[in-house]
Amino acid sequence: MDAEVPLPRGDVTEGVVRVGDTVRRPHQPQSEAVAGYLRHLADVGFDGSPRYLGRDDKGRDVLTYLDGDVAGDPPEPWAADDDLLASVGALLRRLHTASAGYVPPAGALWRRGLVVLDPPIEDPPPELVSHLDVTPQNVVVRDGRAAGLIDFDLAGPTTRLLDVYNTAMHWVPLRPAEDVWPTWRGVDRVARLRRFADAYGLTAGERVALPDLGIAQADRTWLRMRASAEQLGGGWARMWSEGVGDAIRRRQRWMIGHRSELLDALQ
Ligand SMILES: Nc1ncnc2c1ncn2[C@@H]1O[C@H](COP(=O)(O)OP(=O)(O)OP(=O)(O)O)[C@@H](O)[C@H]1O
Ligand SMILES: [Mg+2]
Repeated sequence: MDAEVPLPRGDVTEGVVRVGDTVRRPHQPQSEAVAGYLRHLADVGFDGSPRYLGRDDKGRDVLTYLDGDVAGDPPEPWAADDDLLASVGALLRRLHTASAGYVPPAGALWRRGLVVLDPPIEDPPPELVSHLDVTPQNVVVRDGRAAGLIDFDLAGPTTRLLDVYNTAMHWVPLRPAEDVWPTWRGVDRVARLRRFADAYGLTAGERVALPDLGIAQADRTWLRMRASAEQLGGGWARMWSEGVGDAIRRRQRWMIGHRSELLDALQ
């Protein structure tokens, strides 16, 4: 039996360990839905996600370990490389292509379904299932290029453009200078947004829509994070008490202030 090696901690999930070629994660309410999605990705030949292997004798989810480097928190300077950013855009495009046509089982329970919002939030109508949490800590890098995506806890029905915006928000990053990780200070955010959009292959219409989508999404994310803090507690409550709500407002204001600059860069 291989030893259990603790993996770097994220914000929410505790007790993620490596055992040989596998990763063990606590079983969660959304695990079945995520497993179905990962099976679909495997079936269509997508090579950038872990395989779901079932549950171990402790009831934990078992996934394949993806070889490579994953950025820490805060992400290291190497993770700010522009070619890596472009490869994240290309990998996200491949994920979306592989995800198209996946119809989750009726009643599939995704993480978002665990939080009740009153009044409900109207997201844009979903067009596919996707990852929705493509942060530097959730991308496996090989030879300086994005090779895989891990941590599908927040996956669920969404739109391509929402996943693109969310990924760009983390990776460009789209936020004021004061909120850029110190290890990433000085990156040219406007140029990186352009590079990311080109690598993903955003259409002209999507480019025009992206900044306003980000501005509107900040309102929804703020409400969702607050509800998650109240209803799920744990890491969500800790992030909220550490001021994540204010950071969401600051990035919204930054996007409003830079809206025309971002639009120009995307043309
Ligand atoms: N399948 C995998 N292959 C390689 N490394 C992995 C894999 N799963 C997890 N890891 C490593 O373990 C770290 C934590 O795992 P993961 O992202 O799944 O949980 P988490 O970040 O703690 O969860 P959350 O983001 O929900 O708080 C990752 O950042 C990565 O370094
Ligand atoms: Mg993670």
